[in-house]
Amino acid sequence: MNFSFVAADASKAKADVLVFPVFDTDLTEKKNPPKALLAVDKRTKGLLFKTAQAEGFKGKADQTFVFLTHGKVPAARVILVGLGARAKFTAELLRLAAGRAVKAATRVKAKNVTIQLPVVRELEHAVKAVVEGFELGAYRYDRWKTQNKDEKNAPKVDKVHVHLPDGVKKEKTHDELLAHAKLIAQATNWARDLVNEPAGTMTPTILADAAKTMAKEVGLNIAIGDRKKIEELKMGMFLGVSRGSIEEPRLVQLSWIPRDTEAAKRQPVCFVGKAITFDSGGLSLKPSDGMLDMKTDMAGSAAVLGAMKVIARMQPPFPVHAFFGACENMPSHNAYRLGDVLVSRLGKTVEITNTDAEGRLVLGDILAYANELKPAVLIDLATLTGACIIALGNYIAGAFGADDQLFYDVSESARLAGEDLWRLPVSEHQRDVLKSEIADMKNAGDRAGGAISASLFLKEFVGETPWLHLDIAGPSQSPKERGYLNKGATGYGVRTLVEFVSRRTAQLHNAS
Ligand code: BES
Ligand code: MN
Ligand code: ZN
Repeated sequence: MNFSFVAADASKAKADVLVFPVFDTDLTEKKNPPKALLAVDKRTKGLLFKTAQAEGFKGKADQTFVFLTHGKVPAARVILVGLGARAKFTAELLRLAAGRAVKAATRVKAKNVTIQLPVVRELEHAVKAVVEGFELGAYRYDRWKTQNKDEKNAPKVDKVHVHLPDGVKKEKTHDELLAHAKLIAQATNWARDLVNEPAGTMTPTILADAAKTMAKEVGLNIAIGDRKKIEELKMGMFLGVSRGSIEEPRLVQLSWIPRDTEAAKRQPVCFVGKAITFDSGGLSLKPSDGMLDMKTDMAGSAAVLGAMKVIARMQPPFPVHAFFGACENMPSHNAYRLGDVLVSRLGKTVEITNTDAEGRLVLGDILAYANELKPAVLIDLATLTGACIIALGNYIAGAFGADDQLFYDVSESARLAGEDLWRLPVSEHQRDVLKSEIADMKNAGDRAGGAISASLFLKEFVGETPWLHLDIAGPSQSPKERGYLNKGATGYGVRTLVEFVSRRTAQLHNAS
């Protein structure tokens, strides 16, 4: 998608579609709306607003209205997307609206779109939201569709003219923001592709290869370890989970190291992602319904990979490492058993009471490994528990970790990026449910507080390092089309991690 900024009257724009994000008062009070919107309404002799109102369009935050102009203005269609109340405006509402706009534009086969930016306080956030909303909203996963070629070959929105609000001049920062937002959205769409890909064609080897191709493309260091390497590293929990599958496991580390030697000496930021390319549950086999979506159990690693792709271009003045242990969780003659005791890299022993609690086992070894770099902060993203979906639903990640500063930093990053998370406690009251008679601990507790016991398990492997665990089982997938989301993979986490690195970079610059 090709974006460009224009400082001109949008009502005169020649486009397939002219988009106006509108507040709920724009149509009724007609005080603050962009002049171009009033001009279009005037040229249609008031039909735009009248029809919108007759159709029940009130500018609410989830509404979209498509209007055929019949040549009354140069644009063939006008699309109004609601932002809700001005007082409750956030950039995320505009991102969602831009997503609905591009979906509606695609439905009417538009290629050329003009959008009028609304008058809002922080224009930078609005620019970023529109670019991201358009790119993310236009995403489709149609790799395996061979029929319905019309749908697949339908025109895609490829030119977007962004009209700045009345009286605002174009600045260089606008172009930089645009480029950054585009990188973020494209990396997120790439992460979505990795997650949407069926497990048969997104095996641990293929996932590691995808990471390698990306690393070469953007100039990151990458190290990929095979089963032998994982054995050498004594990652007994990772190996235990990997055993049941004929697919070879992969240990992957991507690194951004600043060229500046002083910057390279700074304590690194470390990310870890869960990378179970298929979670059948193992011998504690999942029922069919629960297994259906389990190709997405590597969404944590996809998020981390998407973020690294952008971070490589941002070149922050501190090292950033990303780790994941990719494998399949399968039942077989060689699978790890219930009652087995696995010896972790840290030396702690774990009695297996449920082979479906596999994520924490792999993550435990990988977190311990990442922690050997003595990171300033350690953040993991994992589709870890169904319990977290029960607690917070399909759109909000659970955030676990005792470090208040790190929680605050990630939570602010998520808010600015437009991703939702909510803090949950790593409560010691529950520690006894992981007590084992024969080993240091069990891998699974009981149903109550399942997301909490999972985080208690992970905590055993991170020592005193400031650590935050994001359980993304809910928001990694959307159950329906919504704003810039499709049904399926969302790429949740890419935007938050990128924002986290941005903010940390800015904090460093401000401090010096
Ligand atoms: N990958 C699942 C968690 C999950 C469930 C993610 C549904 C997305 C949607 C994880 O490996 C798992 O199976 N967790 C178990 C843990 C239990 C056995 C202690 C769960 O949540 O039921
Ligand atoms: Mn599982
Ligand atoms: Zn899993």
